[in-house]
Amino acid sequence: MSRSTIETLRWTGRRLEMIDQRILPARFEYLTYDSAAAVADGIKQMVVRGAPAIGCAAAYGVALEALRLQSQEPGAFFVGLEKGFTQLAHSRPTAINLFWALGRMRRQWEAQRTLPPPQLAARLLVEAHEILAEDVRINRAMGAFGAALLPDGARVLTHCNAGALATAGHGTALGVIRSAVEAGKRISVIADETRPFLQGARLTAWEMVQERIPITLITDNTAGFLMQRGEIDAVVVGADRVAANGDVANKIGTYMVAVLAARHAIPFYVACPLSTIDRDIHDGEAIPIEERDSAEVTGFRDCQWAAEGVAVRNPAFDATPAELVTGLITEKGVVLQPNAAKIHSLFG
Ligand code: MRU
Repeated sequence: MSRSTIETLRWTGRRLEMIDQRILPARFEYLTYDSAAAVADGIKQMVVRGAPAIGCAAAYGVALEALRLQSQEPGAFFVGLEKGFTQLAHSRPTAINLFWALGRMRRQWEAQRTLPPPQLAARLLVEAHEILAEDVRINRAMGAFGAALLPDGARVLTHCNAGALATAGHGTALGVIRSAVEAGKRISVIADETRPFLQGARLTAWEMVQERIPITLITDNTAGFLMQRGEIDAVVVGADRVAANGDVANKIGTYMVAVLAARHAIPFYVACPLSTIDRDIHDGEAIPIEERDSAEVTGFRDCQWAAEGVAVRNPAFDATPAELVTGLITEKGVVLQPNAAKIHSLFG
């Protein structure tokens, strides 16, 4: 079993609960959700974040909406459910897992269209449960493949949070680290703090400290210094969307880390389930990149440090070219030096 017992999302029997990731690690609290609109807002506000976790949340959002509307006659039920899909699809643009999960829920809906609304709602809830359970199984499979890549004693840099909090459990990049530790390897983690939302400082550090996996927190601009000094042996990050040619969209700053890793001949691995690969997008340039509020850059919570009126850019993700990726760690195995042909064959 995974050492991690963090339940990022949980079903209470009638409602969805999600850990409020905006207030971690100061407070650990669940918020309750009962409709697609509420879940869409939770995704937008980053109560839940991380590509696979957003996908799971969206699936439950659809199921909740179906349950909420199940006593209506089929026509009104279908119109309301369609609106729920639209609200969820407009919550965040970059992580493909959101659209992958919505696609899966829609296929289920279409396959069961003739059922009365209450049975259809129950079927959609089962599908959401399956997406959640499957995510943990996939993360464990990726963890096993990825753990084999890390030598005993490895000092592993990660960026953002690709842990249990970003998934249904175990994590993608942190799943690789957890699996390596479970296999008896002595692994230490170096976490980029990950400006501006501080997923590294607030979430990755919290997850690793909980499990007593050695972790050192650095500012984002320290990674090059440590690489130059020979203090980093590998980089493992997650992904929000991988294009058909292997280009990787992940948290802003990932590209900088990949360039630095190449300069210092440090392997750069990306842990991503197949649901994160978007074969409809040819390369990284075409991946939609979310731009977030300037207030995330000009300050944090109640404290503003930048001059009022300053212009700000706040892209939440960047795209790392496939040529900088040593390997994609998937549930089907590791794809070294990814390219379009190798990625295509994963789906054969
Ligand atoms: O803006 P966020 O916190 O949703 O961004 C998350 C990331 O970039 C993660 O690295 C990515 O989703 C992989 S999570 C397994």
